[in-house]
Amino acid sequence: MCGIIGYIGSDNTVSRLIEGLRALEYRGYDSAGVAWYDGGMRVVKASGKLDNLAAKLGDAQTTGIHAGIGHTRWATHGAPSDTNAHPHGTPALQLVHNGIIENYAALRAELTELGYTFQSDTDTEAAAKLLDYYYTVEKRSPLDAISRTAARLEGSYALGILFADDPLRLYALRSGSPLIVGLGEGENFIASDITALLRHTRDYYQLEEGEIAVVEQENVCIYRDGVPVEKERKTALWDVQAAERGGWPHFMIKEIHEEPTAIKATLHPRVKGGLPDFSGERLDTSVLAKVSRLHIVACGTAMHAGLIARGLFESLAALPVTVEVASEFRYNNPLIDENDLVIIISQSGETADSLAALRLAKEKGAPTLAIVNVIGSSIAREADSVLYTWAGPEIAVASTKAYSVQTALLALLAVETALLRGRLDEARGRALVTALCEDAPLAVEAILDREEEIKALAASIAGCEDLFFIGRGAGYYLAAEGSLKLKEISYIHSEAYAAGELKHGTISLIVDGTPVVALCTVPELYGKMVSNIREVKARGANVIAVVCADADTNGIGVDSVVRLPQLCEELLFLPAVTVLQLLAYYTSVARGCDVDQPRNLAKSVTVE
Ligand code: AGP
Repeated sequence: MCGIIGYIGSDNTVSRLIEGLRALEYRGYDSAGVAWYDGGMRVVKASGKLDNLAAKLGDAQTTGIHAGIGHTRWATHGAPSDTNAHPHGTPALQLVHNGIIENYAALRAELTELGYTFQSDTDTEAAAKLLDYYYTVEKRSPLDAISRTAARLEGSYALGILFADDPLRLYALRSGSPLIVGLGEGENFIASDITALLRHTRDYYQLEEGEIAVVEQENVCIYRDGVPVEKERKTALWDVQAAERGGWPHFMIKEIHEEPTAIKATLHPRVKGGLPDFSGERLDTSVLAKVSRLHIVACGTAMHAGLIARGLFESLAALPVTVEVASEFRYNNPLIDENDLVIIISQSGETADSLAALRLAKEKGAPTLAIVNVIGSSIAREADSVLYTWAGPEIAVASTKAYSVQTALLALLAVETALLRGRLDEARGRALVTALCEDAPLAVEAILDREEEIKALAASIAGCEDLFFIGRGAGYYLAAEGSLKLKEISYIHSEAYAAGELKHGTISLIVDGTPVVALCTVPELYGKMVSNIREVKARGANVIAVVCADADTNGIGVDSVVRLPQLCEELLFLPAVTVLQLLAYYTSVARGCDVDQPRNLAKSVTVE
């Protein structure tokens, strides 16, 4: 998604902006630009990677106190190009934007009538020219012009603004897209997220909906409805090293290897005396005891984590669960009320569809719980209850450790729910908690220790263009995540299929040499999976079977076997998903793909 950076201080503003944009590259982008005031407004933009922008900037630099704004753009309206790159503006002002202005066409028409012309295809330019109208034509103050402009914009936006005749102040505004104000020593910042600032500060204000920040070198003032407000000074717990690769070739492999630690970090603070203990959380556990249904709503990998959670809540707590993608839920007029608990899962806590689903659930009176990795993110702040996953920053676009900690935390919550509803005796509850907190991280470690085995399997599929993941029960839910991981980072077309459903059509696609990954992670369904493996083998498939520790694989004709470590069957999804993540990672590396920033993708999809 787009990234915003702003700086005001006495260091070289140009280099600070570029440095901040580089720390935001992980969000995915296709062009970039900066603006600063140096006796006149300077604007430099370039399509492609930041190196192109740096080349255009050459040795441009500032001395003394200067303010500037910068932006990495993930194209929504208008193709990636120098012209469409941000900032956008007029001789009076420049602004950068993250989000979508949904009424930009009408605004462009209105402004054209007022004599404005447009150089780009972007929605952002309409916002910039509307602000110019209120500022230069109606002669309003910066704050008033910004407020008037915001009142006319429809959609989601975070804006960073620099006025030519007010060059020692940055202005920032958010509505629907995240924005923070970084608090330094003799310098201050604005940024889409704290990762961009960690080299210089961990302290920041989180802008709330509709708030406007006026940022000077030594002072920050936040306004709501034109009135200054007090803000809580927050401190990011992540340090620069945590957010940087630390010697790993890619963020993704670093984050996969962090899974055992992340699982323990997320679970251990929520266990006391061997049983779940959520007493220190912003969570009303009484809701878990009385709701009649759970609705898990999320996108992508987070939704796949929800599928695993459904199996756990239904089997352990006998609680009916639906799982739905947020982009469908938000427009399906869901039949929910105060008797339903809606759980929103989101690593970033800023996914537009998931945030909209949360707001809809609240409108309908359903209690809401967010499972989020980014502290203070929009979804976390707006949900009634929140359980943070403590995985640390997940920088790679492909989500890995977030899935592992989401499913582990939801497993713990399922145990708590089962205990609260009298569906699980304490002894069994303790056994599951011990398996979750101790055995499961060890099982994931054991898979990581066998990385070379999986790397070799990746080499065997790296040349294919079509691949199938099949499974039953939790194995099918894992297949969905394995397929997404492989697709998004290796660009191989793959499909997850319920193994029992293949014969109803899709098996026609299995030909000689088609790779099939069979997830045989549910012991009581292993016999059925063996039949499905034989079905595809009969059509020439090359089968990689992921099986339980004691599964008998003699005579079923699989081409490769990945045997999972001993672990209670309810939790096999944790080592199994690590297998699938490593398989996708090494396949992507073998194909020379951009592992951490795959084409067309963004880390946080803050637009719908
Ligand atoms: C996962 O690898 C993808 N990058 C994507 O599907 C992601 O899971 C989805 O966009 C949801 O993001 P969130 O967890 O931040 O809400």
